Amino acid sequence: MNEIKNIGTITLETERLILRRFKIEDAENMYKNWATDPECNKFLSWELHKNVEETKTVIQNWINEYETGSYNWVVELKENKEIIGNISAVHFRKKDLNCEIGYCYGSKYWGKGYGTEALKRAIDFFLNECNLHLVEACHISGNPASGRVMEKAGMKKEAVLKDRRINKYTKELNDLVIYSINN
Ligand SMILES: CC(C)(COP(=O)(O)OP(=O)(O)OC[C@H]1O[C@@H](n2cnc3c(N)ncnc32)[C@H](O)[C@@H]1OP(=O)(O)O)[C@@H](O)C(=O)NCCC(=O)NCCS
Repeated sequence: MNEIKNIGTITLETERLILRRFKIEDAENMYKNWATDPECNKFLSWELHKNVEETKTVIQNWINEYETGSYNWVVELKENKEIIGNISAVHFRKKDLNCEIGYCYGSKYWGKGYGTEALKRAIDFFLNECNLHLVEACHISGNPASGRVMEKAGMKKEAVLKDRRINKYTKELNDLVIYSINN
């Protein structure tokens, strides 16, 4: 088995996207493009940001975490440098040779394939550059679009955990659907 490489958040590229480290200057655009977007936030655990200072604090914490070897990219469109969302390893389990990816994008950028394009690149990075054995991701059953992105990125549905998360939107218990992919 190849040795796991803790590469950290380096810049990655796809046909239409740049995945790069957050900078504090991204705060205004993150605030505008997804941190205040109720559609984006509907199924996510964080609350909508109340002001741009809150976004700055979040980004500063993420920047500090880069020093500990975190994996957290802001996703930028090559064509106009707009930032559209973020993708990260919400858990990087080096000892277990796997990680869990999470992502979110402002709703005005949905349906253009960006979510799939970024996820494919992150999977390739973790499996083939960091040499992890497996990448997983999960979504609640009320959020099938996210499952579709996982499928399109080559992941396979592995398990469904019954009644595992409250759907913030409907206030009901939803199943948690786990996807994974390995080399
Ligand atoms: C889920 C999300 C990442 C998708 O991003 P995106 O850039 O629109 O994704 P893509 O364009 O690559 O693909 C979306 C796919 O979902 C499909 N889709 C959209 N709504 C759907 C729904 N209600 N049910 C099933 N599939 C749906 C689209 O048709 C498309 O599939 P297709 O290409 O086969 O037609 C984006 O909607 C998002 O950021 N949502 C909010 C945050 C979030 O839910 N994050 C994931 C938490 S697990």
